[in-house]
Amino acid sequence: MTSKVRIGKTDLVVNPIGLGANAIGGHNLYPGLDEQANKDLVKAAINEGLDYIDTAFSYGMGRSEELVGEVVKEMGNRQDIIIATKGAQRMVGEERIIDNSPEFLRETVEASLRRLQTDYIDLFYIHSPDEKTPKYEAVGALKELKDKGIIRAIGVSNFSLEQLKEANQDGYVDVYQGHYNLLNRQAEQVYFPYTTEHQISFVPFFPFASGLLAGKYTKDTQFNDFRSNMPHLQGEEFAQNLAKVEKLRNMANAKQTEVSNLVLAWYLAQDAIDTVIPGAKKPEQVIRNLATLDVQLSREELEGISRIFS
Ligand SMILES: NC(=O)c1ccc[n+]([C@@H]2O[C@H](COP(=O)([O-])OP(=O)(O)OC[C@H]3O[C@@H](n4cnc5c(N)ncnc54)[C@H](OP(=O)(O)O)[C@@H]3O)[C@@H](O)[C@H]2O)c1
Repeated sequence: MTSKVRIGKTDLVVNPIGLGANAIGGHNLYPGLDEQANKDLVKAAINEGLDYIDTAFSYGMGRSEELVGEVVKEMGNRQDIIIATKGAQRMVGEERIIDNSPEFLRETVEASLRRLQTDYIDLFYIHSPDEKTPKYEAVGALKELKDKGIIRAIGVSNFSLEQLKEANQDGYVDVYQGHYNLLNRQAEQVYFPYTTEHQISFVPFFPFASGLLAGKYTKDTQFNDFRSNMPHLQGEEFAQNLAKVEKLRNMANAKQTEVSNLVLAWYLAQDAIDTVIPGAKKPEQVIRNLATLDVQLSREELEGISRIFS
């Protein structure tokens, strides 16, 4: 079943289950990625009805964008795929410097277009705030690109609420991407009231809390990438989180679905959220995540899930 949604006030209409592509060519985040397997995953996902991909320059320093661009080109269906990407990081040698200046944003959008082998980007985000550029000026530069048809929608990510308000002073911000999942719900108080009031669609990153809420980790799981430094995946906190996931598993079993589907369906039931972008390493994970559209949660079930994590 596919029921498409519009992303906030944009004209982007997508399957609400997208693909977070930081493990597609994101060699700096996940060691040992196989690029052909990464491309096969994206192809398999598109063949199963996925049409919305979230990438960024910083996933493999352009490599994720290049691989996504290759797949979309090979499949010949650019107009059917919504590509979101992010930039604002200037490389000086090996060092990454955050730069929101209008000149650099114009430059980085051009570079993303080349890597993606396309002449427009559906959704372009400023990936993170710098300290010096007024946020309305940064977004103003993107608005000029939008007016020229080079980007179709404007996003910002990792901005504080104050920075988001400044960025949106002329009403140009379409999407905010921020950290939110069942284990980290501060955005409900901090961002949702503002984003909802201003029709800014909230896209949660780390929807599975880096895999934990997809339900397959056990106390013996070992991490060999950036997850080995995440407090929620270590020691007593990890044990407590696994116990919560077990409660979800009981609910999922009763509904003949999976923990991952329950979790994604819960996000999509929030008014502030139109779409989710879970990451994936294997085609079967994406295909499983796409099955979320078959899951309906009653009010009692939504509240029950909320209580487990309150
Ligand atoms: N704007 C930002 O600053 C920012 C920051 C972080 C992320 N993001 C975006 O958000 C996306 C999502 O974040 P994320 O990928 O880091 O974390 P995530 O979505 O919370 O977790 C992804 C991980 O969950 C596991 N998984 C996914 N589907 C599964 C399934 N059906 N069954 C079992 N396991 C499953 C896989 O882990 P295994 O490796 O264990 O297989 C996968 O790598 C990123 O890809 C990126 O596009 C943006």
